[in-house]
Amino acid sequence: MQPVSPNAKRYDGTTILLHWVTAFLVIEQWLGAQIIDWFPSGPLRIDARSAHISLGVLLAVLLIGRVLWRSSRGRRLPLADSGFLGLVAKATHWGLYGLLAAMVLVGLALTWTRGDSLFNLVRIPAFDPGNHALADQIQEVHATIGWIILALAGIHAAAALFHHFVWRDGVLARMLARG
Ligand code: HEM
Ligand code: HEM
Repeated sequence: MQPVSPNAKRYDGTTILLHWVTAFLVIEQWLGAQIIDWFPSGPLRIDARSAHISLGVLLAVLLIGRVLWRSSRGRRLPLADSGFLGLVAKATHWGLYGLLAAMVLVGLALTWTRGDSLFNLVRIPAFDPGNHALADQIQEVHATIGWIILALAGIHAAAALFHHFVWRDGVLARMLARG
C-alpha cells in the first residue's frame, strides 16, 4: 500500500465543485423519487415528478460538463495506490460515470415512454401511448440502476473515509476545497 503524500495537490476547483454537486444531486434524486407518490395524484404529484425530471436533466448537463472538463483542462491526479487497490478505485470511478450516464439515459427514455407534463406547462408526448408495460419495465430498470449507484457510491464514500481516518493520507483532502 502506497499512501499518497500529504502534500499531494488537490483537484482543481471546477472538478471539486462538479464532484460534490453531482454527489448531492444523486442523493437528492434518489430521495426525491421516493416521495413523488406521497403527493396526491394531480398537480402536486406532477410538480414533484417535474422537479425530478428537471434536476435529472441538470445532472445530465453537469455529467457531460464533467467528462469534457476531465478530458481537457481538469486536473487528474495519480491513483493513491499503484497496485490492485488502485485498479479497484479506477474501476469504481469509471463504474460510477457509466452508471450515471445509464441512469440519465434510462430516465430520459422513461419520461418519453410515459409521456408527461412538466409543471403543467409543457406536454411531453408519449412515445407509445397506453403501453404501460413498457414504461413499467423501463421504470424497473431505472430503479435497479439507482440501487446499484447507491451501493457503489456508498462503497466509494466508505473508502474515502477509510483513507482519511485510518490511513490518514491526503486522498479525501484532494477532493475538498480546503483540507
Ligand atoms: C442519478 C440520477 C437519478 C436517480 C438516482 C433517480 C432515481 C429514481 C428512482 C429511485 C425512481 C423511482 C423508481 C421506482 O421506484 O419505481 C425514479 C423514477 C423516475 N425517474 Fe429518476 N432518477 C435519476 C435521474 C432521472 C432522470 C435524468 C430522469 C429524466 C430526465 C428521471 C426520470 C424519472 C421518472 C419520469 C420517474 C418516474 C416517476 C414516477 O413514478 O412518478 N430520473 N427515479
Ligand atoms: C453519489 C455520490 C458520489 C459519486 C457519484 C462520486 C463519483 C466520483 C467519481 C466518478 C470520482 C472519480 C473522479 C475522477 O477521477 O474523474 C470520484 C472521486 C472521489 N470521490 Fe466521489 N463520488 C460520490 C460521493 C463521494 C463521497 C460521499 C465522498 C467522501 C466521503 C467522495 C470522495 C471522493 C474522493 C476523495 C475522490 C478522489 C479519489 C482520488 O483522488 O483517488 N465521493 N468520485
